Amino acid sequence: MQTINNDLLDPLVVVDPYSYYETLRKHDPVYWNSQWGGWIFTSYEEVKNGFQDIRLSAERVRPSKGMGKEKQQEMSSTYTILSNWLVFNDPPKHTRLRMLMNKAFTPKAVNKLLPKIEETTDYLLNDMSKNREVNVLQSYASILPIMVISDLLGVPKEDRNLIKKWSDDLMLLVFGAAEVENRHEVAKNSLSEMVDYLKVIIKDRRVNPKEDLISALVEASEDQDKLSDDEVISTCTLLVFGGHETTTNLIANGLLAFNNHPEQLQLLKNKPELINTAVDEILRYDGPSKAMVRVAKEDFILNDKEIKIGDKVLLVQASANRDPAVFERPNEFDITRSPNHHLGFGRGIHYCLGAPLALQEGRIALGKFIEKFPSYRVLDQKVEWQPTFVNRGLKYLNISLY
Ligand code: HEM
Repeated sequence: MQTINNDLLDPLVVVDPYSYYETLRKHDPVYWNSQWGGWIFTSYEEVKNGFQDIRLSAERVRPSKGMGKEKQQEMSSTYTILSNWLVFNDPPKHTRLRMLMNKAFTPKAVNKLLPKIEETTDYLLNDMSKNREVNVLQSYASILPIMVISDLLGVPKEDRNLIKKWSDDLMLLVFGAAEVENRHEVAKNSLSEMVDYLKVIIKDRRVNPKEDLISALVEASEDQDKLSDDEVISTCTLLVFGGHETTTNLIANGLLAFNNHPEQLQLLKNKPELINTAVDEILRYDGPSKAMVRVAKEDFILNDKEIKIGDKVLLVQASANRDPAVFERPNEFDITRSPNHHLGFGRGIHYCLGAPLALQEGRIALGKFIEKFPSYRVLDQKVEWQPTFVNRGLKYLNISLY
């Protein structure tokens, strides 16, 4: 039997998680990783079922054991806010929060935003074309989503940079960027600034409702139930966070995939309508969400393995999405692939609430970029990926704009 490397942050695994997880999937799709201290699910079947298994809990935000009492106390307000994020809750709390959010985050609200997304995209592309070489991650992929989510929430234009900074800082905690030593303090300070900022806006919207998501969240009600101010605040921080980094990586990973597959780029240029299936293929082939964590709520047996209450489980979407049992030629980037039942947005009750928005943003951002710079090239001989095991994001992406 082959020896398995248990270091999920080994530089080789970070660069190419697909080969690593393919080995695991073949070897043992329900694998105990002693170094991470949890189970790694890698086949499509186990990952899909894992998302829908009520024995696995989404309640996974808690201070780490090694943190120490004092630090835990210091971080308690931060963890209180995160523990109100619906993505970290099981029913019935999740059901209630999701129902109220659905009242505000409607397809109508997303559709209303489309002309604005197009306008913002055009503005950014024009601005970029003043240069011949740019770090497209910084100048485009990470800016558009923050502008869109700010417009959706109803945050003033001049405050977008603040929102972006707070969201970036929070990522250090949620995605566990172990290489940043003071990540807890940075995330805590930014979250507390964001909360103070949102409190003022929420107070205003209670008296002067506008046509924005914060007003809709404040007003959303179901059987006389409403979101409390703390819940509206938590929800806004989740939407900023959930809608930012992931969509940034969808755009950047997409530009990289097309750069590395010129024949697929040519195909899209010939048939721009393929952008719909192309975006789904990016989510499958090299999507922003590599894996999601769950915690076992009870003891149970799976694939002859004894899963114990409290055990962590990593549902590896990046592996499920390359499983040959479901996808033909899984390692090929094929923008005509259809149907494409990838798990890039998860499955079950936590299925991404922002998926319709993310798909539209991806289509507009990539479609317009390729139309404007049809011969763009990535300049980096080697790209670098962020060393986390839950998201798949580049550190930079330098390109020439032609
Ligand atoms: C390409 C971009 C995106 C990807 C790949 C993505 C991925 C995901 C995934 C995998 C989940 C499931 C989490 C779990 O099961 O634990 C999720 C949930 C969620 N996403 Fe997204 N997301 C994206 C964009 C967005 C956007 C734009 C928003 C909002 C503006 C958003 C808001 C949310 C929310 C609120 C949840 C929690 C849903 C729940 O727990 O019921 N996401 N996302």
